[in-house]
Amino acid sequence: MKCLLNRRLVDEAKATISPFDRGYLFADGIYEVIAIVDGLLLDSERHWIRLERSCGEINLPLPMGIEELKSLIADLVSTNAVKEGRVYFQITRGVAERDFAFPAEATPQLFAFVREASVIAPPQADIGIDAVTVEDLRWKRRDIKSIALLPQTMAKQEAKARGAGEAIMMENGFITEGSSSTIHLIKDGKLITRQLSNEVLPGVTRMSIFDVARDLGMVIEERAFTVQEAQHADELFLTSASAIVQGIVRLDDVQIANGSVGLVTHKLRKTYLERSVDEAKRIAMDG
Ligand code: PDD
Repeated sequence: MKCLLNRRLVDEAKATISPFDRGYLFADGIYEVIAIVDGLLLDSERHWIRLERSCGEINLPLPMGIEELKSLIADLVSTNAVKEGRVYFQITRGVAERDFAFPAEATPQLFAFVREASVIAPPQADIGIDAVTVEDLRWKRRDIKSIALLPQTMAKQEAKARGAGEAIMMENGFITEGSSSTIHLIKDGKLITRQLSNEVLPGVTRMSIFDVARDLGMVIEERAFTVQEAQHADELFLTSASAIVQGIVRLDDVQIANGSVGLVTHKLRKTYLERSVDEAKRIAMDG
């Protein structure tokens, strides 16, 4: 596979970056993950917008114009002939002496890679996953998609050790979000999702699922909810660019409803995929 280092496509095994890059020394950078179907990026516009916002919040200039960045990422996907999977990319502040404050002169660095993975029909989409709760150990600007992910790696490790597929993070008695996902529940036909603030990442899939839910005539309630409420939901699911819409069938050893992925979850997943693939095709044709 080739990866992207700034404007160059390089064999992954031969790709090198400086250990003085501030991404390495300070986790000073921003990232995005976008799903690929039919060789096209799903929900890309919203990911580009969030990338620009995250970079703006930490005063990190893009290494190139956004249109050039889009075409570099598209080239990376087509060069590797990835039909279904994901692209990961990050922008770091670049190489500089190790001073905490931002360097006066550093060139932001782009690194991106792709992986093949099942997006449309991974087996867990049908059978659901288990989740466990962990404490949310993160900082106060979780709305920024920072590459500093140690609390999330610890959360996911704990989930894995406990035999679960996702860790759901808790703060002051309420669920914030998954270690790499937004958590939603369905109760009496309503979609309940935590409101946006600095306490959670504004999920791209969250936003698009809201569009789908509204079009299906569902009421959306944006508010915090507890583990007990999640455990007594009619359906519980997560959204993310990697998992799309994924049913959760057990939370901390309590089975959710009848223990299978719910009908609304299935419907939201299917409709979101149809729409986002159509939209990606439209963007590819226009571009
Ligand atoms: N994670 N919340 C957190 C903390 C996340 O890391 C993610 C995504 C989400 C969902 O956002 P979106 O729908 O825009 O993917 C919510 C990505 C997939 C990752 O880190 O791999």
